[in-house]
Amino acid sequence: MKKKFAVLGDPIEHSWSPSIHYSFAKQFNLSIEYKKIKVVSGSLDSQLSDLIIKDYQGFNITVPLKQEAFQLAKKNKWDISERALKAQAVNTLFLRENFFFADNTDGVGLLRDLHHNGYSENNSNVLIIGAGGAVRGILPLFSLNRPKEVIVVNRTDGNLQSLSKIFHEKFFKYLTIKDFNKKFNKFDHDKIKFNKFDLIINATSASISNHELEIPHKLFLNCPLVVDLFYSSNPTPFLNLAASSGAKKAIDGLGMLVEQAAESFYIWTNNRPRTEEVMDKIRSDFNYK
Ligand code: ATR
Repeated sequence: MKKKFAVLGDPIEHSWSPSIHYSFAKQFNLSIEYKKIKVVSGSLDSQLSDLIIKDYQGFNITVPLKQEAFQLAKKNKWDISERALKAQAVNTLFLRENFFFADNTDGVGLLRDLHHNGYSENNSNVLIIGAGGAVRGILPLFSLNRPKEVIVVNRTDGNLQSLSKIFHEKFFKYLTIKDFNKKFNKFDHDKIKFNKFDLIINATSASISNHELEIPHKLFLNCPLVVDLFYSSNPTPFLNLAASSGAKKAIDGLGMLVEQAAESFYIWTNNRPRTEEVMDKIRSDFNYK
């Protein structure tokens, strides 16, 4: 019988997840159905009930429902993975008998892609820009793998405060972009050939709205790896800026998208897909520049 899966979120029309999962299924000759279904905030509970009746077994949960899914999992006492508990956000659901297993594969997806691109967490300095839902999903990864320092900077203070209550390990530092810029600009970068960060991640939604972030361009000079979690067939303004300001490598969120999907697929089917060839296929299907 065809296994049925879906990605739930809003907006959802532009999701690339169906193409990715159909490519995975092809690798194992599995016959699956994978739908994208628009689910607005507040209606996840009732939608899930409807979809279970229609024999759906697994779900990817995307913006803006990841925290709602977590609350639902807690309320219903579903089995919740350690990484989802830490993130307080769920992006994967799997129906086992009559109960869901709730997981979050975003962090491990990002980590696999970072490793493919040469990053190693040992003794590294990491800068994360943004403090919203996307950051909640990836901070458990850094909390469990312990780099030297993780600085989280954000436009405003509210989200930073909430994050600092969940992730309060000593090596996490929280600063507004304004305060960070002030500190940063105190150094004479030309003299010291600034290269503090081994990894810079843009986890804001600024790329969706094509906004440029107000951060010093010298930040990117000689940085071995810069990642924009957003993905699109055209390079984002953030990645263009990083590349033209001296970053050694600047990548978008496609790798993470495919890797987190692969981990979900593994949870659902017990098959681990080969991700490289799927990434190449998606790049060509969506006319990557
Ligand atoms: P997501 O779930 O995708 O992370 P979110 O929870 O709405 O979305 O968070 C969006 C993040 O992008 C926030 O950190 C937001 O900053 P604020 O907390 O100050 O709102 C950040 N962001 C969005 N647009 C931005 C912009 N133009 N410049 C800088 N930061 C921006």
